[in-house]
Amino acid sequence: MKIVITGASRGIGFAEAKEFKDGELFLVASSLDSFKDEFFQKYHLFGYDFRDSENVIKLAEDIKSKTDKIDLLINNVGIIVLKKFSDMSIEEINSQIDINLKSHILLTKELLPLLMKSKKPHIIFMSSMAAKTGIIGESVYAATKVGISKFAEILRKELQEKVKILVIYSWGVNTFGSEIKTLLNPEDVAKVVRFIVDNDFLVESIEIGHPLQWRDGKAPWSP
Ligand SMILES: NC(=O)c1ccc[n+]([C@@H]2O[C@H](COP(=O)([O-])OP(=O)(O)OC[C@H]3O[C@@H](n4cnc5c(N)ncnc54)[C@H](OP(=O)(O)O)[C@@H]3O)[C@@H](O)[C@H]2O)c1
Repeated sequence: MKIVITGASRGIGFAEAKEFKDGELFLVASSLDSFKDEFFQKYHLFGYDFRDSENVIKLAEDIKSKTDKIDLLINNVGIIVLKKFSDMSIEEINSQIDINLKSHILLTKELLPLLMKSKKPHIIFMSSMAAKTGIIGESVYAATKVGISKFAEILRKELQEKVKILVIYSWGVNTFGSEIKTLLNPEDVAKVVRFIVDNDFLVESIEIGHPLQWRDGKAPWSP
C-alpha cells in the first residue's frame, strides 16, 4: 500500500507511520531534520513548511516524481495556538489556517488524481473534538477543524463510491509529555486508523477519546 502521511515526524503521525510500517510510506514534516528516529530511514521523506502554501504544491510535485499512484492519504498535520483571540498574533492565526486547513485541502486537490488510480482509495482528515466543543482559547484552532470536517463531508458526497473519506474527531492525545491521565496515546489513534483502513466497511467519522475523558456535562472543574 502506498501511503502519504503529513505531520509524520512526531505524535500521532509518527504512530500512524509505525502502524503502517509494512507499506511504502511517503512521510512529511516541516523539515527533513525532523526525522530523527532510525525508523524513518527506509521510507520516502519530505521536508516542507506548510506555513507557505506554495510548499504544499512543491511537496505534491515531489511526491509525483516518485509515484503515480497513492492508496491512502492521511492529512494529519496540525498545530494549536492556545490563546484568547485578542492575544493571538496575525502570524499565529495564519499559521493555524495554513497548516490545519489549507494544506489538507491543497494536498488533497493535488494528489486526488493519484488516489483515483488506486483500487481502494482512502483519504483521512484529522479533525478534533474542538470542532464540536467550544473551548475558550481554541477559537481559530476550532475554526480550522470545523472547516476541514465540513470540507471532508462535501468531498465525500462528490466522490461517493469512488473514494472512502474518514474524519477523526479526537479528544486529547498525549503528544506533549503530559502528566494528565485522561489522554489517549498516539498509538491508540493509529491502531483505530489501521483497523478502519484494513476493513471493507465504510466508516465516515469517528469520535475517539480516553475512557475517562471529560465530556461536555462534566468538565474537570465541575463539582
Ligand atoms: N494531540 C492532541 O491532543 C490532538 C487532539 C485532537 C486532534 N489532534 C490533531 O491531530 C493531528 C496531529 O497532532 P499531534 O498532537 O500528533 O501533533 P504534534 O505531535 O505536535 O506533531 C505535529 C506534526 O506536524 C508537523 N508540522 C508542524 N508544523 C508544520 C509546518 N509548519 N509544516 C509542515 N509540518 C508541520 C510536525 O513536523 P515537525 O516535527 O517538522 O515540526 C509534526 O510532524 C493534528 O491535526 C492535531 O490538530 C491532536
